[in-house]
Amino acid sequence: MIQNKNILIGITGGIAAYKIPLLVRLLKQAGAHVQVICTESALQFVTAQTLSVLSENKVHSEFFDPETHLWNHHVNLGLWADAFIIAPAGSNTLAKMVQGQCDNLLLTTYLSARCPVWVAPAMDLDMYEQPGVKLNLETLKSRGVHVIDAEEGPLASGLSGKGRMAEPETLFQALNDYFAPPVTGWLGKKVLVTAGPTYEAIDPVRFIGNHSTGKMGICIAEALANLGAHVELVLGPTHLSVSENRYAGNIKTTRVKSAKEMLQVCKDLFVHCDGLIMSAAVADYTPEFVAPEKIKKSDERISLNLVKNPDILFELSTHREQHQFSVGFALETQNGEENALQKLHKKRLDAIVLNMVNENTGFQSETNKIVILDNSGKKIESDLKSKSDIAVYLLEHLNLILFKHENENRH
Ligand code: PMT
Repeated sequence: MIQNKNILIGITGGIAAYKIPLLVRLLKQAGAHVQVICTESALQFVTAQTLSVLSENKVHSEFFDPETHLWNHHVNLGLWADAFIIAPAGSNTLAKMVQGQCDNLLLTTYLSARCPVWVAPAMDLDMYEQPGVKLNLETLKSRGVHVIDAEEGPLASGLSGKGRMAEPETLFQALNDYFAPPVTGWLGKKVLVTAGPTYEAIDPVRFIGNHSTGKMGICIAEALANLGAHVELVLGPTHLSVSENRYAGNIKTTRVKSAKEMLQVCKDLFVHCDGLIMSAAVADYTPEFVAPEKIKKSDERISLNLVKNPDILFELSTHREQHQFSVGFALETQNGEENALQKLHKKRLDAIVLNMVNENTGFQSETNKIVILDNSGKKIESDLKSKSDIAVYLLEHLNLILFKHENENRH
């Protein structure tokens, strides 16, 4: 999705420059943020006023702002952009891009940009056929630049042939396609994800909790959102939150404290969901009574009566509709597979994610290592990866396990 993406447009001198305001409009309508850099000669074909009104941003063309004398920082522009498109790209600019020349702001920004770059060449038909121009385009392609081929038709010279810049709609489509999430079973699904610990109150200042940070579940929520799913994230007490990236809008977070609260929120949300992935470390027991005041230090020993908490995963999974999928986690210190399989069957899950606890896996670590077991007996084992890579790995495999038929019908 191109929504909320930062798109930098570089315009070089050429008659096709007059079409770029339409590209700016298409991008803005799709919710992208747009900034424009013009070369000096581009401004003879299109006005900075038009571009700044449509992009709602100042247009950059010189190294120094003529009014404020401040430096137009090309590195900042390059870092800001999620995508940089140079359109129209004349033969002069293409050649300089190949050679690494930078005698204007547009080229300097190109050399410092870290994002993917597109060029939409535009020139007369004989120029477009020149071996030098062709070689430059091939060289740029081999360096990873996306080339949006010129189209055939009437040219400004009065001749007709290949050399017209692709239409703004085609340029928009190329960018939009690039950012579209891959079509998998996750696209458009609504998924309930639980993450983090629960705190079970003992008195107003004390609780029973555990070491979960919520990171694994947050990574799953973010990876789902990146794949075009809508996520209801039910998050136990943690200082972590979903990162403010362009997909964050696909995640709705509800914060809870205790297991009972988590159960109630999950029950309310699950009826509207296509399935659930439960990675929360829910306390199995809770104090039978919560002391209304802080418990005072007095006797040598005190005892705390604990009662069983509801098993949220069991409750939801065993009462789910037929179309809803159910995936749980199993955190184990010994007999991992045996215990995980017991939970898979008892809680009637489609799949379970076994998480063994050691120094680099499980609670609090930046990395994790999982085994996915499904109810057809399949077993898939990951390597040690960052938690965000584990989330992507998990969703890739769950896509094959849960949406096999949907995926087959699509092909
Ligand atoms: O948060 P991090 O620091 O990143 O750590 C991630 C993690 C280690 C917490 C996570 O990867 C993980 O393993 N989560 C499962 C923790 C757990 O409580 O597992 P369990 O085997 O006790 O529970 C089995 C399943 O039942 C889990 O899906 C759990 O969410 C669910 N459950 C358990 C008890 C309960 N009362 N209600 C539940 O829903």
